[in-house]
Parts: sequence; C-alpha cells; structure tokens
Amino acid sequence: MTFCLLTVILGCLYFQESLQQMEDKPLVTIFYEPLCPYSQRFITNILYPVYANLGTYIQVDFIPYGIVKRQKVNNDWTYECQHGPEECAISKLQVCGIAKAGDQNSHMEYVYCIEHDIDTAHDIQTLAHCASKLELSEDEVLKCAEGPEGDKLFGLLGDKQQTLAPGLNGVPTVYINNTNLDNYTALKKAVCDVLHNNPEVCSENSQE
Ligand SMILES: *[C@@H]1O[C@H](CO)[C@@H](O)[C@H](O)[C@H]1NC(C)=O
Ligand SMILES: *[C@@H]1O[C@H](CO)[C@@H](O)[C@H](O)[C@H]1NC(C)=O
Repeated sequence: MTFCLLTVILGCLYFQESLQQMEDKPLVTIFYEPLCPYSQRFITNILYPVYANLGTYIQVDFIPYGIVKRQKVNNDWTYECQHGPEECAISKLQVCGIAKAGDQNSHMEYVYCIEHDIDTAHDIQTLAHCASKLELSEDEVLKCAEGPEGDKLFGLLGDKQQTLAPGLNGVPTVYINNTNLDNYTALKKAVCDVLHNNPEVCSENSQE
C-alpha cells in the first residue's frame, strides 16, 4: 500500500516536473502545407537540421493546415486544400500520426519522412510507411486519415489557425511563442535569441 502510494506520488512529481520543463521551452508553431514546395523545403532543409541541434530546448507544434477552404455541411466539415485533395489527405495522415503516438522527436522524424518522400509519392498509401517512425502500423494511421477521426483532427487544426493566425496568407508561417517570425529561413537565430541557457550550438557561426 505504502509502495503504491509512493509510486503515485513520485509519478505525480515526475509528471509535474516534465510538464514544467515543457512549459519553460519556447513554443515553435509551424503552419505549413504538405505539398507546398516552400513548406517542404523549410521542413527538410531548415527545420530538420535546426531541430537536430536545438530540439531538446523547444516545443514544436506541427500544424499541417495552411490555406484551406472549409464548409460545414450537416455538421461535417468539407475541406478544399490549396494543392488539392491529395494535400488534405497528407495533412490528415500527419495530424493522425502525431495525435496517436510518439514523442516530439518521433513526430519530427515522421513529418520529415513524409515531406522528404513527397518528392516521389503524393499518395497516402505510399507515404503511410512513415508511420514506422511512430511505431504505428500503416493500417492504424490510414484508418484515421481516411475516416471521420482524421476529419475531426484536421478541423481542430483549422480552429487553431483561426485563433492564432487568422487570415494566414502564406506558408510556411512560423511563430515563436506566438510572435510571427518574419524570416523563417533565420529559424536558428530566432530560436537562439529566445533561449536563456545559451546552448553551445548557438555560439557557432553556422546557419543551421
Ligand atoms: C517563451 O515561452 C516560454 C514558456 O512560457 C517562456 O519560458 C519563455 O521565457 C518565453 N520566451 C520568450 C522570449 O518570450
Ligand atoms: C533571412 O535569414 C537568412 C538566414 O539568416 C538571411 O541569409 C537572409 O538575408 C534573411 N532575409 C531577410 C530578408 O532578412
């Protein structure tokens, strides 16, 4: 009994501590469209290498929701994505995977895997292999992406965008702690600027 209680208390303390650590980290919010070449290059060439060095110091909110027209018909959303239905499907594949499994590092690997492979495949059946980065099966992630769950999760991203970035007029759009980053190619500098602990990589002269 004592042991159980102790486990619960330690568990709570641990949970509180990790929550606290998360809250102290600057929040990097990224609005992007999976099939937009600028978004794709931002994720593979800028975000991914910056994350490799600074990922432990930040929280990343991946929002694969850019310029989307949506309409509520009989309580269900219908969406029209800028690069067509394939893009909506890939966005849902991403939001489903992120919602279902993994930690932030594996979410980054998952999003990178999809954006990297988009050069050769636009269909979610092929891209679903990236679910292995989350230790999810292809079936699980596809079932979500192709069904009502994916629609619902995608809708929540839309709500978030309307709150945070209403009238978003281009992607990628990056916020750090809810402040819009004008020049997203300078991500590393912008992250370093808000970090108090001054990691070594921030003193180096590289653009990554
Ligand atoms: C960003 O937000 C985090 C968490 O609230 C906070 O610890 C940090 O000081 C903020 N940084 C800036 C530059 O506002
Ligand atoms: C944006 O940032 C990049 C990388 O730091 C820099 O090379 C470029 O000149 C910046 N562009 C503008 C318009 O400030």
